[in-house]
Amino acid sequence: MCGIVGYIGDKEAYPIIINGLKRLEYRGYDSAGVAIVDKRTKIYKKKGKVNELEKLVYNKDVSGNIGIGHTRWATHGEPNDVNAHPHTSENGHFTVIHNGIIENYSRLKKRLEDRGYNFVSKTDTEVLANLIEFIYIKGKGEIDAEQAVRLALSKVIGAYGIVIIAKDEPDKLIAARKGSPLVIGIGEGEYFIASDATPIIEHTDSVIYLNNDNVAVIKKDQLTLKTIGNDKREPLIQKLSMDIGSIEKNGYDHFMLKEIFEQPKSITDTFRGRIAADLSEIRLGGLHEVMPKLENAKRILIIACGTSWHAGLVAEYLIETIARIPVEVEYGSEFRYRKPIIYKDDVIIAISQSGETADTLAAINIAKEAGATVVGICNVVGSSIPRETHAGVYTHAGPEIGVASTKAFTAQVTVLTMIAILLGKNNNKISEKKYLEYIKELTDIPSKVEEILKSDSLIKEISALYKNASNFLYLGRGYLFPVALEGALKLKEISYIHAEGYPAAEMKHGPIALIDENMPVVVIATQDNSYDKIVSNIQEVKARNGKVIAIVTEGDTVIKDLADHVIEVPKSHEAIAPLLTVIPLQLLSYHIAVMRDCNVDQPRNLAKSVTVE
Ligand code: G6P
Repeated sequence: MCGIVGYIGDKEAYPIIINGLKRLEYRGYDSAGVAIVDKRTKIYKKKGKVNELEKLVYNKDVSGNIGIGHTRWATHGEPNDVNAHPHTSENGHFTVIHNGIIENYSRLKKRLEDRGYNFVSKTDTEVLANLIEFIYIKGKGEIDAEQAVRLALSKVIGAYGIVIIAKDEPDKLIAARKGSPLVIGIGEGEYFIASDATPIIEHTDSVIYLNNDNVAVIKKDQLTLKTIGNDKREPLIQKLSMDIGSIEKNGYDHFMLKEIFEQPKSITDTFRGRIAADLSEIRLGGLHEVMPKLENAKRILIIACGTSWHAGLVAEYLIETIARIPVEVEYGSEFRYRKPIIYKDDVIIAISQSGETADTLAAINIAKEAGATVVGICNVVGSSIPRETHAGVYTHAGPEIGVASTKAFTAQVTVLTMIAILLGKNNNKISEKKYLEYIKELTDIPSKVEEILKSDSLIKEISALYKNASNFLYLGRGYLFPVALEGALKLKEISYIHAEGYPAAEMKHGPIALIDENMPVVVIATQDNSYDKIVSNIQEVKARNGKVIAIVTEGDTVIKDLADHVIEVPKSHEAIAPLLTVIPLQLLSYHIAVMRDCNVDQPRNLAKSVTVE
């Protein structure tokens, strides 16, 4: 939610910042803005995407070697030019960009208004800018900009990643973090600041991830790190392993399509080094220390949001079936506010692509306070959740830029499948033979996904027939019920067609009333234990003239005779089938969205990383 970029050095800041904003646009695209420091601070901001800002700035003076930029996902105040960041304090002393939410902003605003401050925008960020200025002016030359920032932040409740320009100290940027991520890239006589590493990687691979409560004062050749309480901190410099190709479209029309087609590779990357070359064992180094806790857990609680929650639902089937440990799956947002019962011997698995989702993070903290062991499954290295959890596994899917999650989902399910198989084996719930069979099945997945991707043109043809539908129903049973939910979510997110996922048998308790000749029903019906039952469900849909698009196991002849369209996937064990059957659903939603002229990579109102509750 909101992307932040900053630069200080000898180069022109504007091109670096605008490129960085384009990389971060997936975090929000309601408005964009820059502030460039030269002899004065020049601010340009505009409602809409970064290219609207570029049009505004065309032919204007953007020279200067220090600057900040912001791309916004609106929380306080509608998306318009005035509410766009940066925000400058009333007397011009401080210019601020902010990602996060100041929860006590209305109280702070009232106090500032009582002291004569006027506000031009509806944002919480302008309150912060004015609060810093108020403290600075009140200090009557006794305190510097950094002190004013720290004192102001000590009064703020909420989450923030901020970067600040101080008019009286134009040789520096001040950055601070609580809750919302900030990464600082270290160059030769220059520093780069961003919400994540994607704008930084083309300049340097040396970075510092700010911790909560950190305040960094950054000059072009010097960085000092403190806490808000003024304790000095040693910056921990880390190396990025990301490569620049992974954040480019590489010839694909959209990031989403690239990411769908990348899945044979990303799944391989997820199990690389974790499955022995001779396929004799699974090794999850990140879980080594907590493995006894997992094996002896009376219960595993899975916490996540969005697509990651669907991966959690797949894991419920996997872990309960294969390892026989009870599992509950929770939305982070519900868990954190419903006074959950948490036992010390519970193990919590938090799943998050970004590692920054506010509700998931808050739920983790509640579980930790209750004394439970918390394991993270995240994609973004160095993000907040891996730092907050006791142990974890990175999914290593590579940067996911498309707002609708695709390869991150299959990577999460791959990790969760490995965990389930390992627990099943360690707890003697599956035989050695079965363990080896599962491992083999998993390693066959990338080539099977490759096969499915060859159906892309068939799926495109089917998409053309249904692109104008107003509703879709997705049905699946067992392991494939969460896949139905995920298929429906993908369609809703990017094509704005209403879609619902249902356990196929539950259709009779409601959605069947919706079925007529205009209702496309996507049925995930590969050959497994409930095959006969799902065939009956397809018949029920056909009896009411619904249109059936079925995802079937290759060679299936029964459903071919019943369904309007079939998309085949290679045969697999039913526990592995989610990794295969989700691929055609991703492609279906992608093609329908493109045909409806929707912005696939940046769907309206959504953001990739939801750092507000
Ligand atoms: C947003 C994204 C989804 C994602 C969800 C959870 O809604 O648009 O794609 O599944 O957040 O995000 P996380 O990073 O925690 O997996």
